[in-house]
Amino acid sequence: MDPSKAFGFSTLPDHYVQLSPPRPRWNVMHSIGVALVALAGLVWWTSPFQAGETPRSRALPVADFSWDQVTPSPTLEYHDCFDGLQCARLRVPMDYHRTDGQGRHVAVAVARLPAKVPVTDPRYGGAVLVNPGGPGGSGVAMVLLGGRDVQTIVDAEQDPSVASRAENKYFDIIGFDPRGVNNTTPGFSCFPNLFSQRNWELQAAAEGILGSSKDAFRRNWDRAIALNTGCSANLTTPLRDGEEALGEHINTLPVARDMLEIVERHGQWREKQGLAEQRERDRTHGYDPHQTLAARTRWNPGQEKIQYWGRSYGTILGSTFATLFPDRIHRAVLDAVVDADKYYLGDGHSAIEDADAIFARFTEYCEAVGSENCPFYTEGGAAAIEESFMAVDNALYDRSVPVPSSSTRGPEVVTWSDLKNIVRIALYQPLRGFPLLAEYASALAQGNGAPMADFKVGGRSPSCPSTQCLQGGPWSAACQVPGYNEEYSSAAILCADAEYLQSADEDTFGRYWQSLREDSAMLGDYWAGLGLNCVGWDVKPKWQLPGRIAANTSHPLLFVTNILDPVTPLRSARKMSRRFPGSVLLQQDSEGHSTLAAPSVCTHKAIRRYFQTGELPPPDTVCAGDLKPLFGIPQAMQAARSAGDQQLYEVLVGAAQRMPAVRLPL
Ligand SMILES: *[C@@H]1O[C@H](CO)[C@@H](O)[C@H](O)[C@H]1NC(C)=O
Ligand SMILES: *[C@@H]1O[C@H](CO)[C@@H](O)[C@H](O)[C@H]1NC(C)=O
Ligand SMILES: *[C@@H]1O[C@H](CO)[C@@H](O)[C@H](O)[C@H]1NC(C)=O
Repeated sequence: MDPSKAFGFSTLPDHYVQLSPPRPRWNVMHSIGVALVALAGLVWWTSPFQAGETPRSRALPVADFSWDQVTPSPTLEYHDCFDGLQCARLRVPMDYHRTDGQGRHVAVAVARLPAKVPVTDPRYGGAVLVNPGGPGGSGVAMVLLGGRDVQTIVDAEQDPSVASRAENKYFDIIGFDPRGVNNTTPGFSCFPNLFSQRNWELQAAAEGILGSSKDAFRRNWDRAIALNTGCSANLTTPLRDGEEALGEHINTLPVARDMLEIVERHGQWREKQGLAEQRERDRTHGYDPHQTLAARTRWNPGQEKIQYWGRSYGTILGSTFATLFPDRIHRAVLDAVVDADKYYLGDGHSAIEDADAIFARFTEYCEAVGSENCPFYTEGGAAAIEESFMAVDNALYDRSVPVPSSSTRGPEVVTWSDLKNIVRIALYQPLRGFPLLAEYASALAQGNGAPMADFKVGGRSPSCPSTQCLQGGPWSAACQVPGYNEEYSSAAILCADAEYLQSADEDTFGRYWQSLREDSAMLGDYWAGLGLNCVGWDVKPKWQLPGRIAANTSHPLLFVTNILDPVTPLRSARKMSRRFPGSVLLQQDSEGHSTLAAPSVCTHKAIRRYFQTGELPPPDTVCAGDLKPLFGIPQAMQAARSAGDQQLYEVLVGAAQRMPAVRLPL
């Protein structure tokens, strides 16, 4: 069980809200050009959402929406769903290379947040496809949770009702669940029901991660073999002879092709909307000889271009798309850039080479803000703070901390693995995680494991087989809950993409693990554990990588990265940018995984400009981060920010809280 699942968006206290001004000797502050607002009580979405477009979706009461009521279709047939969204299930071939017209299909779950103007409006900017990372992250969930944040960033600053400039663009935001993920079908499971899955995960948590004890390697290895051989066999065995097996079509290449299909079908859908509105207009205003609305929305089959924003693993998806379909790029922002050679082939520098530098920032910031904002503060500088942290770490390795039951949870034991997990969250999302790390580590230093135990338990959810599951029996559809399959989907995609990880034996894996520990003391064990997810796996995807990831694209890509990212280092972003001539790399002076981990108005205005006009920032642009973990920004500077920038800032702060980036590795 992954305690970070407790990182639910409403359950965590706002520990990171630190309003007192930093000490004057803090010298990074001058580079932060903007001000802190009181985060407590922040309204993250300020303007009410307006759907500008005439709803044409089939009537299905929104409250009753469920994906299985929608019939998969080869065109985008939208139904109202969730809160102001539209959902469709796009039917695509499981194997695009199958030529006999037979074979299984995949129904890709698509969720669209409509643009604030109708598609026939000259200001309609088209659709921006998003991917939250993972692998295995749900794009549907991303649009559900953060679609409006994304829209605020990419849309023109002015509300369309007050600004009629034709240059202002307003976009649809479209998220989709990749193959094997959440609402896209067919799904799969490695367990006969959720009950057995939860038991397995609780045992895993009790065993501890790699490195947590002398026996941990043996135990983790055996567990991995048990889980993976069964799961892999299940995913690669076709239900009927001659049929495709999902496991061989779950890798990134066909998903990039699915994206192209969404883009094409969006063009077709847009044309249909345009023709309908044209007919309506002609009827009420008389025939328009220019057929303006129809012309504006015309579908160009085989030529529609993508607008895309992908984070982390989403940069693999984006750069793979750009390699396969280089002339289909209109806009693509790749944020938190994965080295594609490393990901697919294991070639290149370590992904976690900068992780420990972020931990060093924790000790520096803790020292800078003092005990008031950092409970783990000790006299003697950052080195002393690191030393006391290592003391807690060592003590916990030798002896876990018993925590008696409380009014809200049962008895617990806080272990070294739990501490490593909090460290991981802190490195990925320092804004949220540094304060937690400071609080929990300081309690542990006093022998108190209760705060950590509460956190751990918050991540668990009870599970009993439902009545339908009991009736249907193990492995029946009623026993599967797609939303809980996230980490196994993640592994299925990663292991199919990175075949080299499947073949490791104990010795080679042991060496791989040791080298990762040398790359990062803080993250090495966790990162090696991901590789363990692929041992015993035996899947050869049908569509193989054609060559290296690189291309001359029809419009230059915009790469974005934090200067210090725990798993997608700056070095990877530089390398990938060189693979795509004309692309620009924008750096944000923040720590954490992806630029949404820390707000920067500068970064996101550059991203907005790119989506609005296609213009790239000058090469070597470095944007300041607007909020540093553990302490805020002098109140006085707030006045310097325009109302529009302030709104963007507030959305970014909200997004940093809401984006579920931390559960999956990339
Ligand atoms: C594999 O999964 C299917 C359902 O997807 C199930 O019917 C079957 O029994 C599973 N087999 C094994 C050996 O786990
Ligand atoms: C799966 O999609 C649903 C919406 O259909 C969403 O509520 C849920 O959060 C998603 N699950 C995950 C794990 O992303
Ligand atoms: C891009 O175009 C240049 C100049 O024509 C060429 O040298 C280079 O090989 C191309 N790169 C890729 C990845 O196609």
